[in-house]
Amino acid sequence: MLHAVSFGPDAVHYRNRWVRTRGLEAEERAGRALFGGIMTPAFVDPALLGPDPDPGWPTKLDAFINVVAHDGRYLALEEGLPAYEVSADLETVGRYDFCGGLAKGLTAHPKLDPITGELVVFRYDIEAPFLTWAIVAADGSMAQPETALDGVDQAFMIHDCAITPRYLVLSIGPATFDIEAMLAGGPMLSWQPDLGMRIAVIPRDGSSPVRWIETDAYWVWHYANAYEVGNAIAMDFPHWNVPGFLTPDTEVTGAYVRTILDPAAGTIEFETVQDAMTEFPRIDERRLGHPHRYVIATAGSGSVPLAPGEHDALCRIDLETKTMEQYPTGGAIGEAVFAPKPDGTGELDGYYLAFVNALDGDHTTFNIWDAASFPGAPRARIHLPQRVPNGLHGNWFPAA
Ligand SMILES: [Fe+2]
Repeated sequence: MLHAVSFGPDAVHYRNRWVRTRGLEAEERAGRALFGGIMTPAFVDPALLGPDPDPGWPTKLDAFINVVAHDGRYLALEEGLPAYEVSADLETVGRYDFCGGLAKGLTAHPKLDPITGELVVFRYDIEAPFLTWAIVAADGSMAQPETALDGVDQAFMIHDCAITPRYLVLSIGPATFDIEAMLAGGPMLSWQPDLGMRIAVIPRDGSSPVRWIETDAYWVWHYANAYEVGNAIAMDFPHWNVPGFLTPDTEVTGAYVRTILDPAAGTIEFETVQDAMTEFPRIDERRLGHPHRYVIATAGSGSVPLAPGEHDALCRIDLETKTMEQYPTGGAIGEAVFAPKPDGTGELDGYYLAFVNALDGDHTTFNIWDAASFPGAPRARIHLPQRVPNGLHGNWFPAA
């Protein structure tokens, strides 16, 4: 289900709609759930799925992780399956495969180049080719066709990537798929730290070889940004020792780090910017691939009891002063995004937007902070007519 808050000249509107996937339609016809969960796929009788079923069986294509806008389309994305296009008012248009250019789909975190309008995408798979990348031009055509990344000979889960004007950076952490184990009733994914972290620095124009950097294993869900510093690449993100969902017996530790990648030397250096566990790092997306100073993220302030995976505070990390400010909301906050003012250019010339769910009730507010006065209180809290469940990702799209 997608949720949208839209701002008109006189009012704010809230709307939600199911993404009407083939899998959802099949389940409506059956009157019951047919598929398993994302970590527990169930083998559905193909006869129940109807004509032209969504690819991905036995996994259900749910289009529930992220929404991006590209080439005039809003695309609801899952992890490595085709996108579903929706309209601005969240009606389902249909499955979209970039005119066949990405027939098998893409992961939920493609990167939109703010200068060229290109969408840089990747996809992992449980069968060869195990990892591919591609670039969609601003007009929706394929600027770089889907290309297998040589040197990846097994299936890894890779959630996010980073881009600079010249490079796509794909960090391959050792979360591996084991289909035979899954078929035997075991876990589908496992953490294999002995494999280490392998980082591929891929020239976007394909003009030079992919450079590899190898280091000890760590885990990343999301990158805030990357940019070039001479021939090096700076990249910053919440760094985790392990993916907690795969390592229940290991204490999870995390910090916000800045790294410097030297593709020619094959090295990576780490600097801890904040010794704090944050997630959902976002920047002023107009700077994606270019230097940024501020990152907003969510964290637990310690002031309220939270369920696993919940955060209550909006944080802002300043990479220049290496400080962090936070505003504890008292509720469970979702991913925050930056909405620039229409005539603004600076990183503080806009608003931070986030859903916050009450911990002691069943209501949701949509919160708007003025970036210039953060960590002051939100400038506005919009009381929504119903609770919006804790979700994953969101984005701000200016009106056409
Ligand atoms: Fe994500």
